[in-house]
Amino acid sequence: TTRVYNLTISEVTGWPDGYNRTLTVINGQFPGPLIEANMGDRLIVNVQNNGVNMTTMHFHGLYQNGTNFMDGTYQISQCGIPPGGSFTYNFTVPGQYGTYWYHSHYGTQYMDGVVGPFVIHSQEEDDLISAMYDYDQVVLISDWYHGLSQGYLADYLASGNEDTEPVPDNGLINGAAYFNCALTPGDSCYQQDANRTIFNFERDKTYRLRVINTGAFAEINFSVDEHPLTLVEGDGVLIQPTTLHKLAVAVAQRYSVLITTNITSTDNFWVRAELNEFCFAATNPVLVDPGITGVLTYTDKADSGAPPYSNSMTAETDSWGDVAADVLCLDLNNTSIEPMIPIQAPDATVFYRIDSSFQIGSYAIDLAYINGTSWKPASGTSVLNQAYEMLAPGLSSTVVDSNSTELLNKTGPLPLGVFGGNQDQYIINVPDYEVVDILINNLDDGDHPFHLHGYKFWVMGTGTGSFPYKEYGNFNTTNPMRRDTVGIQAYGWALLRFVADNPGLWPLHCHITWHLEAGLLMQFEVQPKMIAQFEPPAAWAQLCAA
Ligand code: C2O
Repeated sequence: TTRVYNLTISEVTGWPDGYNRTLTVINGQFPGPLIEANMGDRLIVNVQNNGVNMTTMHFHGLYQNGTNFMDGTYQISQCGIPPGGSFTYNFTVPGQYGTYWYHSHYGTQYMDGVVGPFVIHSQEEDDLISAMYDYDQVVLISDWYHGLSQGYLADYLASGNEDTEPVPDNGLINGAAYFNCALTPGDSCYQQDANRTIFNFERDKTYRLRVINTGAFAEINFSVDEHPLTLVEGDGVLIQPTTLHKLAVAVAQRYSVLITTNITSTDNFWVRAELNEFCFAATNPVLVDPGITGVLTYTDKADSGAPPYSNSMTAETDSWGDVAADVLCLDLNNTSIEPMIPIQAPDATVFYRIDSSFQIGSYAIDLAYINGTSWKPASGTSVLNQAYEMLAPGLSSTVVDSNSTELLNKTGPLPLGVFGGNQDQYIINVPDYEVVDILINNLDDGDHPFHLHGYKFWVMGTGTGSFPYKEYGNFNTTNPMRRDTVGIQAYGWALLRFVADNPGLWPLHCHITWHLEAGLLMQFEVQPKMIAQFEPPAAWAQLCAA
């Protein structure tokens, strides 16, 4: 089946939480429309850019096997779609299902509204969990800011502002929230039709909530008052059902949880998206009870006289008292029941150590570094465009095919020296089909959600302090969690494993949008000879000429 989606980007004025600002949105709506497909379908996504800035569209978590040029990363897998321009993404979705999302991968643009949910269904998944729930509901949660992201980024990167990520003004649940205008007096704050998101659910049914953190910075604790959550999916991987009360979701991670609407004491419940407090001062107004909330309301009221829900209403329900489940523990303690992903991780054959840190540069700008390099979008054409030209038939005989199994700190530029000496583009050429271990050392005092494009990696281990080299080789290889975005604790580490079987240039980056733009990105180049066989559409190359 081929499914066609038309996404038109434009600038609008909106007030998701009552605070008026400029948004960049898709099809005039925020969040963007749900993209749905069955596993194996072809997706045609026409992006028309009627906005004032460049754009690209990235489908987060999709393998894009054989279609790396449809990965939508600005100046890595493609040149940008200029204002007034358009581009058609055309790819299939075999071999994966579950909850994903799509977002602009140009600068910090997704935080201005260019985001949407992406769900892939499959028979394989249905066989395992569809009998467990009646209805399916997407829940996007994020931190939120009252101005354009470019301004916050400029402040963050400005001289003298080291280590001060923008503090969120609020958070949103499915693009809406309540904001108390008394906290920020001024003309821009007014209620208009802003309101919390209300989930109208039938009584005595089970709902699958697909929770997606589409934010810039904050890890969010998601909960529904009085309703336990049964966790069944993480990043498109089915998990042995586990019950918890609060779910910690790092930026760009997704989880599916089941809730059953069987509470008889009341009809209205807070749905909570609590920004994890370690990020901010506890006095931040958005953290004050009930905080960032939506409302779950049962459509068939037990109490027929109950007033309709309104913003002025006080909470009827209390938050779960327990501390949040730790997402890092979830990674290690949950077992996958995933039929399509090998439960047994193979032994690694190559090992790369990635040190990530922040340093004050010579201009006193706070930049992020990976092994001493700080990413910037390539100038001229995208890295993949350049690699593709260099690898085109006739030149491919000069490709350097690395089969080294050298351990530790193995690094190298793209073959042919395309980026020789360029510290903006740190690219490791992974030997074909090897089993790759990436040790990420987080040398910073904050947590970082790292995302690898094109793969789900096994999370072999995470921890604080330094990596226990003596234990290397003793990590559990049977059924570790597989996912595409992992939280790495402050001064901690994560050991990630993947098989280099998907050709392309795949970014590994911190998904905190400010950190990405500060340079916290590197790329893995997998199977350059296969990259040379790609047949991207002419329109892809033409983007670079625009
Ligand atoms: Cu959500 Cu580089 O991506």
